[in-house]
Amino acid sequence: MSQLKTLEAYQKAYQKSIENPEEFWDEIAHQFLWKEKWTKTLEWNFAEPNIKWFINGKFNITENAIDRHLLTSANKTAFIWESNFVDKPNRIITYQNLHDEVCKVANTLKSFGVKKGDRVCIYMPMIPETIFAMLACARIGAVHSVVFAGFSASALAGRIQDSDCKVVLTTDGAYRGVKDIPIKAVVDEALQTCPFVEKVLIYKHTNTAITLTNRDVIWQNVVTNASQLCTPELMNSEDVLFILYTSGSTGKPKGVVHTCGGYMIYTCYSFQNVFQMNLDTDSKDLFWCTADVGWITGHSYIAYGPLLAGVSSVIFEGVPSFPDAGRFWNVIDKYKVTHFYTAPTAIRALEACGLEFVTPYKLNSLKVLGSVGEPINEEAWHWYHKNIGKENCPIVDTWWQTETGGILISALAGVTPTKPSFATLPLPGIQPLLVDEKGDEILGNNVEGNLCIKFPWPSIIRTTYGDHARCKQAYFETYPGLYFTGDGCRRDENGFYRITGRVDDVMNISGHRIGTAEVESAINSHTDVVESAVVGYPHDIKGQGIYAYVIAPSTTKNHDNLRKEILAEVTKIIGAIAKPDKIQIVSGLPKTRSGKIMRRILRKIAEGEITNLGDTSTLLDPAVVEEIVKGRI
Ligand code: PRX
Repeated sequence: MSQLKTLEAYQKAYQKSIENPEEFWDEIAHQFLWKEKWTKTLEWNFAEPNIKWFINGKFNITENAIDRHLLTSANKTAFIWESNFVDKPNRIITYQNLHDEVCKVANTLKSFGVKKGDRVCIYMPMIPETIFAMLACARIGAVHSVVFAGFSASALAGRIQDSDCKVVLTTDGAYRGVKDIPIKAVVDEALQTCPFVEKVLIYKHTNTAITLTNRDVIWQNVVTNASQLCTPELMNSEDVLFILYTSGSTGKPKGVVHTCGGYMIYTCYSFQNVFQMNLDTDSKDLFWCTADVGWITGHSYIAYGPLLAGVSSVIFEGVPSFPDAGRFWNVIDKYKVTHFYTAPTAIRALEACGLEFVTPYKLNSLKVLGSVGEPINEEAWHWYHKNIGKENCPIVDTWWQTETGGILISALAGVTPTKPSFATLPLPGIQPLLVDEKGDEILGNNVEGNLCIKFPWPSIIRTTYGDHARCKQAYFETYPGLYFTGDGCRRDENGFYRITGRVDDVMNISGHRIGTAEVESAINSHTDVVESAVVGYPHDIKGQGIYAYVIAPSTTKNHDNLRKEILAEVTKIIGAIAKPDKIQIVSGLPKTRSGKIMRRILRKIAEGEITNLGDTSTLLDPAVVEEIVKGRI
């Protein structure tokens, strides 16, 4: 067990991790189950990039996440599943159940001909089967690519094509609050452009009517009878564990690749240390991460981290507002959740509903609160601290990214200090630095710059699937020799880090990462639109909202109708999460003489900062700015 229990222990571990990173991670990695030990701890350069950890080590992550616990904790709860509906019975999945179910799905995948290295797409809601599916892939060495079930058919198809998935796992439908969402129908539409997919395995969850094709197999017909034993595939540390698509500042979403060894070590280590759960086998601590498993938070801190650490956690199918805005607090009291991890956008939305949804609940089981996905503003931090944590629970504001695999900057609950709206200090093994535009390091405290990391940690991105050059260009070229996060950051007088937000063209909408270029491309596919520019603007609940400026010169449509059609187009191409909050129809965009859109100006207008737009004299057509300001929504 590698839990740091005091500030001094943290400082000592941090020091050691900087002075001798290989020895530091070696010691931690030795606590896992390996079939063959690694022959070299680390090989790296950020120029290519080429990063390898625990080289030649052989093992299987599911043996560490499941089988290892069976000796002592076979009957311990791995997951409690809470349905979308308050009165529907929950499901308890012990570590033994988890083992059996994962093996059954693994054997089913094998019977479909899925082999080590094959890609499997998982497009499923928040039900235990989704976790079984991920772990089943890992068990047989297949690479899972989970796609958030809110993405559209076209977005799903793009991801399935990019990683050339052989099999898709899905459900008939999904419940989200009052909605009953067709899921299989989306898969059917997506697969019209993916003829190479050989099988679709469908878990019947909502009993929504579905149409079956030759390649479709019903989960309940095959998995139920499959064998509960499946020898884990022997994996190399650097074999791919999964691909997860995320948005960048340009082009299509990219498939972030994580590999087995480093990801296992870092998600477990970061989970144990940030949340500080009691890890005894008979511990009553209960973790609940409210993220969707379709995002990295769900991968690392619903699926892998908690299971590797052998703890019990909650999986929740529903939404925070159904049947009312007290649902989170109801679930916390119902199961006595001790460690609760959610996003600032949820906190702000629930705060806006009023305290009458909180006060009926005791919330006295809580020990630690967490925040993830976007900067948490001070007001939301205090509301969370006072009304949910009753001023008794440390808040860990955890900064990280899809590409980092695990939490890099955060307080360790009850061990290191916290400060409202600050992620605070780097975890052991993480060497952050701030650089200026030229890439020079900004030394000292009370400074602000672009956040980079100068040394690899075990779960750093290895490549972007099928396009290594893109990985290099996106993360390692801006500041040669450094991993560039895309985030701006302040370091205060104590050396605490505060993330100020993205400095590239990536927006953070309700904690979801969306590229402006992606939304523009979806808007531009509307036949009446000739060009558009999209920027983020501050939004009380979502953190950032999407503001779209759209040129549609020849449209004969009334603008409200055009807006509706544009929203439908974005929903069709990406999904409802990327719908602009505001659409302004304009006759032109502010461009430089070389044709570059001046987003700085558009951002200011969207923010309502119209008195000081800076120098507009270099624009091709300065008058357009005036028109846009006048028509501002
Ligand atoms: O801008 C940062 C923000 O979310 C981005 C990463 O998004 P994604 O890859 O989708 O992963 C989200 C969950 C880890 C970062 O570049 N971000 C994430 N956590 C925080 C944050 N910003 C401020 N504070 C955080 N705690």
